[in-house]
Amino acid sequence: MTPGIKPLVAGNWKMNGLNSAMDELEVMRDQFKPGLSAKIDMLICLPFTMLAKAGELTSRSAVKIGAQNCHKEIKGAHTGDISIEMIADCGAEAVIVGHSERRTDHGESNAQICEKAQSVLHWGHMAVICIGESDEQRKQGATLDVLKKQMTESVPGSADNGEIVIAYEPIWAIGTGLTPTVSDVEEAHQFMRSYLIERFGEAGNAIRLLYGGSVKPSNAAELMGINNVDGALIGGASLKADDFLGICATYQ
Ligand code: 13P
Repeated sequence: MTPGIKPLVAGNWKMNGLNSAMDELEVMRDQFKPGLSAKIDMLICLPFTMLAKAGELTSRSAVKIGAQNCHKEIKGAHTGDISIEMIADCGAEAVIVGHSERRTDHGESNAQICEKAQSVLHWGHMAVICIGESDEQRKQGATLDVLKKQMTESVPGSADNGEIVIAYEPIWAIGTGLTPTVSDVEEAHQFMRSYLIERFGEAGNAIRLLYGGSVKPSNAAELMGINNVDGALIGGASLKADDFLGICATYQ
């Protein structure tokens, strides 16, 4: 928690989900009651193919939807790519950029991630920028150096019209059931906060810092209670409404 910051609980469905099976999203929408939506923001980042329908299903609710990637340009000759304008056209308000799976699977660099984030922010939307060290880097004691380089090179110099959110996702904790210790998460998030204040001044105090990597209902209270952890980015446990809502209930 950070005083004065409304937490954000975000789901990343990755390459999962079909338009013919939207019931989990509908349960999340229906169970996200005003008492809870006054306390936290809920965001579900879906595959592109589900965004239009998800946008309709959530349009009159407090649930925000988002995408998991976008191109840096708004339109043009970029076969197979999707822009922030197209994402916004579906009713989505956020985009995850720089997830480690995209850094690995598609070789995305910090510089490319920065350009994508700039496009999202210029559009007035939320860019959830992911950073995090590999297992090897952690074992070398390089975690904070890695985070600093990733923030320096992939976080734009201005939030423009949008909102910068940073998600700390240790790569070795994603989908493994492993999580860092409370003191390791606290150290990383304190480091991120200090870096952001140094770079952005007082505005750095208002940037939401999410933790991601094997967050489940059973460990959410402990992880979400850590200083400077302003919410979560959740993979596997965001696919089932019960699990996702169980994590959200931590804030009840
Ligand atoms: P898991 O919650 O499945 O570990 O995934 C985390 C993640 O990569 C969210 O972006």
